[in-house]
Amino acid sequence: MSDSERRIEDSGERDHDERSVQQFYGRYADLYDAIATAPGVATWRRAAADALDLEQGDTVVEMGCGTGANLPFLRERVGSEGRVLGIDLTRPLLVSARSRIDRHGWSNVAVAQADATAPPVAQADAVLGSFVVGMLPDPAGAVADWCALTDGRVALLDGTSSSHPIGALANPLFGAFVGAGAPADSLGDSLRQALASTVARTDLDRSVAAARESLVERTTDRRYEEFALGFVSVLSGSVK
Ligand SMILES: C[S@@+](CC[C@H](N)C(=O)[O-])C[C@H]1O[C@@H](n2cnc3c(N)ncnc32)[C@H](O)[C@@H]1O
Repeated sequence: MSDSERRIEDSGERDHDERSVQQFYGRYADLYDAIATAPGVATWRRAAADALDLEQGDTVVEMGCGTGANLPFLRERVGSEGRVLGIDLTRPLLVSARSRIDRHGWSNVAVAQADATAPPVAQADAVLGSFVVGMLPDPAGAVADWCALTDGRVALLDGTSSSHPIGALANPLFGAFVGAGAPADSLGDSLRQALASTVARTDLDRSVAAARESLVERTTDRRYEEFALGFVSVLSGSVK
């Protein structure tokens, strides 16, 4: 296959992946928001916002902001003089994020429909990726690009299989949850993904590992915090 044929095939796959992401999250926007704002989840989101070491007046970007569940924590830290920008591919999730912004009456928080792998942002004081790197075709490349946008901190909040002695016992269950919850074209595909992920290290684990390695290469002063028996963690660092 020639390079140009491969490029056309890659971009076809990528369009299909983006469509799947948008259809999947679009269909379940309300359900996703309910899960994303469940009481225990706030602890992880607070930790991710804290990991950015934001100051009042800062500008922070969230890549793949979904329904905007992190926005309150980011807005709290940058205050009324700062700026929060969330970007996401999926319109129905952004509608939900905009309602959240309107409810709070925040004039300095905005969301935009854009691709986190080509964000329409020139510079920021900090960047957050929350439960998103696992969905990107090239997680390491995306994190490298995010680090290039800032001299400040970059934080990644993610769910992965656990290496905690007790959490690890539930890894097959986590795999099934991830497989079933990943964008799929049909219920049959969801079930096949769920089953496959109970026995193998999930694609999500591999993507998050690649994203984290990329962050580690480009940052100093790293901090790592685990939650939920090691199934959820925040890795952050200051860009070199
Ligand atoms: C699991 S949700 C996480 C949403 C939010 N960050 C949170 O913590 O609740 C993943 C989000 O990433 C978005 N997404 C996936 N690929 C994307 C891309 N290439 N560019 C922008 N958003 C993307 C999806 O639309 C979805 O909103």
